Amino acid sequence: MSETEKRWHPATAAAHALGWEDDATKSLTPPIHLTSTYIRDPDNQYRSGRSYGRPHNPTHEVPERLLSHLEGGAAAMLFSSGMAAATAVFLALRPGDHVVAPRVMYWGLRHWLTGFASEWGLKVELVDAGDLGAIKAALRPRQTKLLWLESPANPTWVVTDIAAAAELGHKAGARVAIDSTVAAAVLTNPIKLGCDLVMHSATKYLNGHTDVVAGALVTAAADEFWTRLVALRTSNGALLGPVEAWLLLRGMRTLPLRLERACRNAQEIAERFAGDPRVSAVLYPGLATHPGHAVAVKQMTGGFGGMLSIRVKRGEMAAISTAARVKIWKRATSLGGVESLVEHRASIEGAGSPAPPDLLRLSAGIENARDLIDDLDQALGN
Ligand SMILES: Cc1ncc(COP(=O)(O)O)c(C=O)c1O
Repeated sequence: MSETEKRWHPATAAAHALGWEDDATKSLTPPIHLTSTYIRDPDNQYRSGRSYGRPHNPTHEVPERLLSHLEGGAAAMLFSSGMAAATAVFLALRPGDHVVAPRVMYWGLRHWLTGFASEWGLKVELVDAGDLGAIKAALRPRQTKLLWLESPANPTWVVTDIAAAAELGHKAGARVAIDSTVAAAVLTNPIKLGCDLVMHSATKYLNGHTDVVAGALVTAAADEFWTRLVALRTSNGALLGPVEAWLLLRGMRTLPLRLERACRNAQEIAERFAGDPRVSAVLYPGLATHPGHAVAVKQMTGGFGGMLSIRVKRGEMAAISTAARVKIWKRATSLGGVESLVEHRASIEGAGSPAPPDLLRLSAGIENARDLIDDLDQALGN
């Protein structure tokens, strides 16, 4: 990357895939490398740095460099899913290590932490991560090895003051990692706020077209823990496939543009339904009424994200019926695609979910805002 490219605005860096071009063929688009192995040099060396398809595939290099650039990191690594990326961070710890994580977070990871990870010996403590006092009280100096954050956090969009939480974590001697899927590399840069590691479900905004399952980690420093994570990805076989890596780069080229529109749509939808008599609450960090609004203003740039939730006044069955009546919104789990999705969150999270039973989670896509609002309006009924 040239000095000029390093200074590029995220929209320019993404659209140009960091200025990649192929010297040999003059191709403007990076190729897909479909190979499971690499040729060894006649003198028995691997000067290319690549020996086999489980640790390496060159198709990863441009999307990894672009993501690292967008996040302001030292390096990035793609995984076969967001869960593969997230669990690698916990698997790199040791049995008996204490970790602090939010009570309100992506349910799949919370389920894994309180199940498998705890059974394997991690001491997992869940806290209200919107409350710095609760984080401080849970951290155990020298025993807590990891403070895991998510902001804004599923599905009520709890906002954590990332810079303050990272400082608390570091004071206790813990590494600080964050699931930044919803803030998607251009709305918040947690490394610049003090985090050591950033995780993304690249399935969501980074790819953005609902056709790839992928994950990523970005590190602030290429340190010993990062080397351990690289080794874990190889031995666990969690590398992303080359076709998915190529599709992910194509998606990332429009990330800033898509997010701009999704944020604008989410803000308009939130403002339209706040105060609507059929809705008891609209949960969106972009509304001044949201408990995390002031912190979100401080640490999010360019918008408050495309994710919001509404609570339907007449309760759970009315929420499920609302989701049944949508015509433009798609009734599906996941988020961050070009098409808007609606989901009754408690149904997918199951027993023990902190999602209120009357809550519908909305992923605003890039459609026309008026169409989305009118559709939700008719689906809410009288
Ligand atoms: C915030 C968040 N983190 C992590 C994940 C897990 O990612 P994946 O489904 O790519 O494994 C998800 C998936 O829904 C998510 O929404």
